[in-house]
Amino acid sequence: MTARATVRGVPMRVLGIESSCDETSAAVVSGAGNAVHLESLVILSQDVHRIFGGVVPEIASRAHLTAVVPVTRRALADAGLSASGVGIDAIAVTHAPGLVGALLVGVAYAKALGATLQVPVLGTHHMEGHLFATSLDHADAVPPFTALLVSGGHTMLLDVAAWGDYRLLGSTRDDAAGEAFDKVAKLLGLPYPGGRPIELAARDGDPARHRFAPPMLHGGQKPGDDDYYDLSFSGLKTAVLRAVRAADAAGMLDAERPHLARGFQDALVTTLAEKTARAARAFGRKRVVLGGGVACNGALQEGVRRAVSPMGGVVFAPSPKLATDNAAMIARAGLWRLEQGERSDASLNAYASRPIPGLRA
Ligand code: KG4
Ligand code: ZN
Repeated sequence: MTARATVRGVPMRVLGIESSCDETSAAVVSGAGNAVHLESLVILSQDVHRIFGGVVPEIASRAHLTAVVPVTRRALADAGLSASGVGIDAIAVTHAPGLVGALLVGVAYAKALGATLQVPVLGTHHMEGHLFATSLDHADAVPPFTALLVSGGHTMLLDVAAWGDYRLLGSTRDDAAGEAFDKVAKLLGLPYPGGRPIELAARDGDPARHRFAPPMLHGGQKPGDDDYYDLSFSGLKTAVLRAVRAADAAGMLDAERPHLARGFQDALVTTLAEKTARAARAFGRKRVVLGGGVACNGALQEGVRRAVSPMGGVVFAPSPKLATDNAAMIARAGLWRLEQGERSDASLNAYASRPIPGLRA
């Protein structure tokens, strides 16, 4: 363990490794406190899953195994370091949540590299990574803030009072927001992953043609109600399915596709934006931070902006490479935890699900 890695406030250089799903990623960040910057980031997306219309865990693990060493070496080289990793003060690796077989590849490699370099290794929570990601793009995307994390696997609304102090306000009761995009894209005959194709199709859509009810949203909801912050997308998906069937039966699916995409996206954005604004209002937060792959969606960014700007709220969205799964966010979150003196020992393992550390009831 190097001295630099153990002293709070002294800049350190952290290698991040991410392999929880279908991206093999490595990155180097350096700095201290909130002054941390990105030195390199390599993301290798496993395109093979497109053939299957979803991530196949066994294939993902094998692809990580092939990619993790070259991807890490490339990230080290891009940061001006030798392929061996000399100059790294610590390693942060995603250890939860995710596909266990996929996570284990990153965890095993990080442990081996950490032992070789004699630097500390820290198991890092993937969703805490998403909370930190935007701060690498925007220096002001730091606590306190309201966070909306929307990805293919998770949908969470959180209040972030400080780094490490999180309150989960709401989450999805069924599909994740990205999953809803992916499933609706499939219904519409659009490619996987479906978020971007739906966003593009919706640009040509007429918002008045298919008005789907924004899910889990009605005026009678009050703070304290179970459904005040919670989300659900399966009902919306079923409503789109019915409309798709009707359009198909009439031989109009091609013509209706952009309008259906627009109606779906509008309903989903309305709910996410309103619930995010509720959270910002309730906790008096002026900053709203978006994270996860769905945060790339321009309509969502705009919808949240519209919802919080009347209360003086400012929205920070990550750039696409930091929104989607990446190792920079893992290195960034890990750096903060390392600064708090946290280290993993040899028992570091991978977990399919685990609460975000620092989560208050
Ligand atoms: O965070 P992410 O890369 O991986 C997970 O941790 O799941 O998120 C992937 C999800 C996919 O469901 C994809 O369809 C969605 O993010 N996505 C989008 C957009 N770009 C990616 N959803 C809506 N609009 C987009 N532009
Ligand atoms: Zn993610």
